[in-house]
Amino acid sequence: MDTWILPVLLLLTSYCCHGVLACPHLCTCYFSTNTTQVVCSGPSVSHFPLVGLPGNTTLLSIENTNLSSISAHHLEAVPFLQELHLSSNQLSSLPENLLKGLTHLHTLDLTGNQLEHLPPGVFHHAPLQNLVLRDNLLHRAESSWLPVNSNLTTLNLAGNHLDTIPTALLQNLPQLKTLDLSQNRLEKIAAGTLSTLSNLQRLHLEENKLNSIDPSAFHHNNKLTHLFLQENRLEKLPLGLLQGLHRLEVLTLNDNQLHFLPYGLLEKLPSLGASTGQGVDLSKNPWECKAKAAYLWKWLRANREVLFSPEDIQCRSPESLKGRPVLSLTEEEIQTE
Ligand SMILES: *[C@@H]1O[C@H](CO)[C@@H](O)[C@H](O)[C@H]1NC(C)=O
Ligand SMILES: *[C@@H]1O[C@H](CO)[C@@H](O)[C@H](O)[C@H]1NC(C)=O
Ligand SMILES: *[C@@H]1O[C@H](CO)[C@@H](O)[C@H](O)[C@H]1NC(C)=O
Ligand SMILES: *[C@@H]1O[C@H](CO)[C@@H](O)[C@H](O)[C@H]1NC(C)=O
Repeated sequence: MDTWILPVLLLLTSYCCHGVLACPHLCTCYFSTNTTQVVCSGPSVSHFPLVGLPGNTTLLSIENTNLSSISAHHLEAVPFLQELHLSSNQLSSLPENLLKGLTHLHTLDLTGNQLEHLPPGVFHHAPLQNLVLRDNLLHRAESSWLPVNSNLTTLNLAGNHLDTIPTALLQNLPQLKTLDLSQNRLEKIAAGTLSTLSNLQRLHLEENKLNSIDPSAFHHNNKLTHLFLQENRLEKLPLGLLQGLHRLEVLTLNDNQLHFLPYGLLEKLPSLGASTGQGVDLSKNPWECKAKAAYLWKWLRANREVLFSPEDIQCRSPESLKGRPVLSLTEEEIQTE
């Protein structure tokens, strides 16, 4: 074989659009037995990388680029797609038929775009299991986005502008296991808003403006293992709130405005802190260390090993105990005050 043939052949196979190793300009392609992954990134990617895109691509990642539009025509080129990652781009809208024909697509990540509204039916065409819409500009999440009885197991709407729980949408998602509504503008959780989520395991409600939770809000979510409520505006918790949550392992209530815990709130939660790294965070609340605090004090003493940041569970009042860790109080101090 002439010495020039091999390099030329390599060039041809690398660059020719029908070549075995075709890969779009500015992208990297990884071929293995069952998957073809295409990863494109950088600000100079400003259009969908259609030319050279392998027809059997199973994962496509176009992240941290300048992509501002994407169409069903683009995605028709990759009918075997299973995962589509489009985070940190300039997308401000999606066409209704975007996912048409993507009968294998289970994961769609649209984190960090400028999506404010989405058309009805937008996620109907693919059998999605994981949908991430984190850090967009959504004020509402509509039930029309997903089909009734969708098989979605993860929905992430964190970092948007939602001011109510999207109950009608959640009613379409009986398989949901993880729901992230953190970093929105939620103020309350009314009765029944989460009651269709009987498979829910992880519920993220942290960093909202929650000041009220109905006592029955979680009563149908008895598979919950993780409940995140930190960095809200909760002043009190209703007795019975955690009733029936036998599988609850992690509960975070830190950085709220809690003054005291209703007597019995944390009983019958056998899984709390069951393994390492799990437990309860009650730190950074303005605890009132009066006689009413006896339940908190007793519970903390009996459950030291499940506490996160026990030193930061401190009395705000009375003045004489201000700044003292609740766990450091003596029985006399808690009773005489
Ligand atoms: C490829 O797929 C086959 C059949 O689905 C499976 O048995 C095999 O383990 C897969 N191989 C790899 C490397 O994932
Ligand atoms: C995808 O196509 C390339 C090029 O034809 C081939 O080498 C690879 O094995 C194919 N991968 C799959 C998952 O079919
Ligand atoms: C991104 O795209 C816009 C137009 O869509 C263009 O004006 C801008 O220069 C691009 N930015 C980069 C870093 O290429
Ligand atoms: C959910 O999955 C089941 C079983 O795989 C399937 O029959 C059903 O059509 C799926 N539902 C939707 C809305 O895709």
